Amino acid sequence: MSSKTVYPAKLEGSVRVPGDKSISQRVAMLAALADGTSKVTGYLMGEDARSTLSAMEQMGAKAEFKDGALYITGVAGKLQQPAEPLDMGNSGTGTRLLAGIVAGSGVEASMIGDDSLSSRPMGRIRHPLELMGASIGLTGQRGTLPMMIAGGNLKGIGYLLPMASAQVKSCVLLAGLFAEGKTTVIEPRPTRDHTEKLFQALDIPIEINGLEISVEGSGKDGVHFKARDFTVPGDFSSAAFWIVAVAARPGAELVIENVGLNPRRTALLDVMKRMGADIDVTVTEAKGDPIGNIKVRGAQLKGTVIEGDEIPNLIDEIPILCVAGALAEGKTDVRDAAELRVKESDRIAEMVKNLRLFGVQVEEKEDGMVVTGPNAPVTPDAVIDSHGDHRIAMSAAILNSFATGPLTIDKVGCVDTSYPEFWQHFEQLGGKIG
Ligand code: S3P
Repeated sequence: MSSKTVYPAKLEGSVRVPGDKSISQRVAMLAALADGTSKVTGYLMGEDARSTLSAMEQMGAKAEFKDGALYITGVAGKLQQPAEPLDMGNSGTGTRLLAGIVAGSGVEASMIGDDSLSSRPMGRIRHPLELMGASIGLTGQRGTLPMMIAGGNLKGIGYLLPMASAQVKSCVLLAGLFAEGKTTVIEPRPTRDHTEKLFQALDIPIEINGLEISVEGSGKDGVHFKARDFTVPGDFSSAAFWIVAVAARPGAELVIENVGLNPRRTALLDVMKRMGADIDVTVTEAKGDPIGNIKVRGAQLKGTVIEGDEIPNLIDEIPILCVAGALAEGKTDVRDAAELRVKESDRIAEMVKNLRLFGVQVEEKEDGMVVTGPNAPVTPDAVIDSHGDHRIAMSAAILNSFATGPLTIDKVGCVDTSYPEFWQHFEQLGGKIG
């Protein structure tokens, strides 16, 4: 895997981030199941979105990129048996959501992935899918990939999610689409609701009562819904890197255009405002999930506590929020975030290690960390290893933009999973890359 050398720089200007990863993958799966052809604009061209799309093609869907849009022709509810294992690359979302669809549809399939994905817990989806009647084999050493799925004839269940996870929630709801009877999931805390929103957009009946979400399965009648067109907004999680890079630098200014502003994704904005950031949001599209432009002006930030219900709504932004914490005055205390230990890497351990390499004062906790600032980060005399985690690599690049010299970040290929244009945008905003 390749490496990049990044230099300290004032980042500012304007940028448009690529399509939302969570929405792109859900659109790929649902359009591939639909009856007819969906035109998708703004689809993420990152590796995760591509591996999910390829898996759907292996099961009979047709996908074609033409004139800047993606056209997906679905299988009208009848997936084909894939001839080869489905290679899900680095994508936890692709794996866990698609496992629900495969289990529901009754095709037999196996799923494999890269080293990072192959170390992530899959028991969390095996349990509910087995309760519904599927057979799930996890042949990795600790409830991990490779995964064999044999399902069909599932029955609906009521399931209290043991953790706040949109992936597990979505897996059960997608399997529930095919099951006999009603499937209900209850979340411990609200998580991103893109699956529910897309069901509604496709006229798939879904009932939402607070944290309780139900779908009526089609059972023997088979899943049947019509294709429609989709527009994928820019990924707020990708925008977050630039928001922090500029918000923490007095005098810098930035506009990010066309960003998805689903309220279950944007808790970072509330946290940054609490930290004293100067941020204005202009909604440009209010129909469905809001989309808009985010304007940021740099300021001296101050520390805050991040915990509880806020955590799932900024779970992917915590690495970059810790960078904000390093630059802020006082303590930034992240709690209730033990899920970070089972992301693309152990993000608590990796961020603590990397922050310390930059001389930042940080205390590791089982479920988070306490960062004490303000620090003047010093570029370490060591190469930073991304551990195959895109958000660790991008957070290190942003932290070094505030530091003292050139930093080499190793294994940066992972950035292509969510944000292939990241390095180009880093330069566009005034950064230098060696
Ligand atoms: C995602 C849900 C979150 C998030 C991941 C994308 C999704 O994972 O971290 O990047 O698209 O549903 P969990 O559901 O495991 O919390």
